[in-house]
Amino acid sequence: MVDRRLPRPGEILPLIGRRDRSLTRLQARLERCASIGDIRELARRRVPRSVFDYTDGAAGSELTLRRSVEAYSRVEFTPRVLRDVSSVDLSVEMLGRRSALPFALGPTGFTRMMHHVGEPAVAKVAGEAGIPYALSTLGTTSVEALAQAAPGTRRWFQLYVWRDRVASEALVKRVELAGYDTLILTVDTAVGGIRLRDVRNGLTIPPQLTLSTLAGMALYPRWWGNLLTTRPLEFASLSSTGGTVGDLLTKVFDPAITGADITWLRSIWPGKLVLKGVQSVEDAVIAVDLGVDAVILSNHGGRQIDRGNVPLEILPSVVDAVGDRIEVYVDGGITCGADIVAALAFGATGALIGRGYLYGLMAGGEDGVRRVVSILEKEIRTTMQLLGVTSVGELDRSCVRLR
Ligand SMILES: Cc1cc2nc3c(=O)[nH]c(=O)nc-3n(C[C@H](O)[C@H](O)[C@H](O)COP(=O)(O)O)c2cc1C
Repeated sequence: MVDRRLPRPGEILPLIGRRDRSLTRLQARLERCASIGDIRELARRRVPRSVFDYTDGAAGSELTLRRSVEAYSRVEFTPRVLRDVSSVDLSVEMLGRRSALPFALGPTGFTRMMHHVGEPAVAKVAGEAGIPYALSTLGTTSVEALAQAAPGTRRWFQLYVWRDRVASEALVKRVELAGYDTLILTVDTAVGGIRLRDVRNGLTIPPQLTLSTLAGMALYPRWWGNLLTTRPLEFASLSSTGGTVGDLLTKVFDPAITGADITWLRSIWPGKLVLKGVQSVEDAVIAVDLGVDAVILSNHGGRQIDRGNVPLEILPSVVDAVGDRIEVYVDGGITCGADIVAALAFGATGALIGRGYLYGLMAGGEDGVRRVVSILEKEIRTTMQLLGVTSVGELDRSCVRLR
């Protein structure tokens, strides 16, 4: 027999969930997103499909991207217990400076298309979190404007070397003068990858007003309103040509980059030099010989070669070959903090995040990026505590394997 009684109003009221009035409606929505996956779904609903697809999509049949994500699902941790994990240090040394968290926000082109606040908002959040932010050559904010908007953020610059070396050198000089401490040369873009979603959606740079985009305005009035009432959406360091990003890459960037160009860059750039897009042990060894400070094992988030190899899978061999001489970073397919912990355990110095923070940007501008960083931080911390480690330095291959 259950002893029932009439509920008293005073007992019911505290049970009624009320929105924290200090949060905006959007912030409250972001707070309810428990994972990057949830943020991705929110992003999908808040921007036109072509914008979401440009960010979310990859090249060809998107096998590289799917395999990169899938590799992390094969990670199996070996938790150790009976250890005091009440306080955990998530910081790591990255290219000569301490980063509060073991990841950086990686370079992404055309960021103001995802949300009109663009790169300055992302860089601001990175600064608050004490992590680096990398501005892309294809950014929609100039090198100087970003430095001005986020003076306290550790800034890296990602370079695409143009066919015109004199112009490239002038850009590198501006990067140095604007106080960026690291130059990342991306080398997986001899030509643009074949991104089918962009072709099918007719996505051009900048987005063009066609009958179908006009129809789409009705569905995303806020996004279009912001696009049309803020400064024009264009590349800050080069002029747009009206084609897809793939077309643009192919037209502007030089398919003839070789080791000699790295030597040339080394001679004109005094800061840290990093190669992004290394995808084999052999090229990592060559990178060391060329005098770079780090490599980023990356397949460009699957946006370049389809059926490329998976950074997480080649990470241990690359670390074995060059890890005692240079730092090894990894990106591509990271969807949660546990993925970052796995990469660190396999020997990475740190990770870069691409789509993860862009989903946040599309979902909620600066607040969305902040939510993503806080989700990742919580997930990294919790995973480390449950693994029985209290600092990144304690993570090693005894903690992890690929099933
Ligand atoms: C929308 C978008 C734009 C990107 N633009 C650039 C870029 O301009 N330069 C670059 O080196 N990498 C670029 N990348 C690749 C990222 O730096 C990073 O390698 C990749 O996103 C990592 O994979 P993830 O998105 O799964 O985290 C871009 C990625 C995305 C998703």
